[in-house]
Amino acid sequence: MYNLLKGKRGIIFGALDSNSIAWKVAESAHAEGATFVLTNAPIAMRMGEINELAEKTGSEIIPADVTKLEDIENLIEKSVEILGGKIDFVLHSIGMSVNVRKKIHYTDNNYDFTHKGFDISALSFHKVMQVLYKKDAMAEWGSIVALTYMAAQRVFPDYNDMADNKAYLESIARSFGYFFGRDHKVRVNTISQSPTATTAGNGVKGFSGFINYAEKMSPLGNATAQECADYTITLFSDLTKKVTLQNLFHDGGFSNMGVSNEIMAAFEDQE
Ligand code: NAI
Repeated sequence: MYNLLKGKRGIIFGALDSNSIAWKVAESAHAEGATFVLTNAPIAMRMGEINELAEKTGSEIIPADVTKLEDIENLIEKSVEILGGKIDFVLHSIGMSVNVRKKIHYTDNNYDFTHKGFDISALSFHKVMQVLYKKDAMAEWGSIVALTYMAAQRVFPDYNDMADNKAYLESIARSFGYFFGRDHKVRVNTISQSPTATTAGNGVKGFSGFINYAEKMSPLGNATAQECADYTITLFSDLTKKVTLQNLFHDGGFSNMGVSNEIMAAFEDQE
């Protein structure tokens, strides 16, 4: 390890179980010398797995439903108190679509479900940043990262309304990132990650086809959850101070491919 986050304080949203990308980020941030608060929706904590992560990383857990402003306000106030100063890094690693969960087709979306998923997956990023901004809780040269997927730019039919949520999320990163950069020297970016076998990932219809196709299309293969954590750590470190308002693809090269030899081979004998 490189001590890249020595002395830095953070808040990590979204560690559900050991497959979660946020879980790997927490383990890596701890190994790099950071202290942080872990948070998740109260309902997600019933499973209790997050306690194991908290113990391992010497962290406190503060429950917060990201759709509720009062939960976010409490989280941020307590985090500053517990960590003993302003926050250097924040990971938003949250996504949920009720339409996806209930297997409702995109052309038949239920708008109450659409609203709920949008609130959790996209608007929550604005809410978190607005509370951090108003409370002046971010340290100068701090870094805020949210996780996203390329369905924000290109069509992936079964990604459903999450595609729209991700487009909105990425836009918030730019819009809020301007004000955070101008006023507090804080950077805001999204990482657009390869398909990854997690609870959220596996919930997408046809996920195994999705992940195998991306693997064969990408010159470096799919990026794993641990590799995503490694990349996230660089964005939290002082080595990336002037990177902001970016959507950064972390996908083994997938996003710039047209077709690969392996995918071509599967179609060559077809008329
Ligand atoms: P995950 O299922 O482990 O994490 C999603 C988290 O969102 C869970 O911890 C869940 O409890 C939390 N959450 C849901 N509702 C919440 C609420 N109301 N308040 C607070 N937290 C809430 O799955 P994963 O894959 O680690 O997801 C993390 C992020 O990575 C998500 O934004 C996801 O869309 C994104 N991503 C995932 C990819 C994949 O293939 N797994 C690919 C690209 C991006």
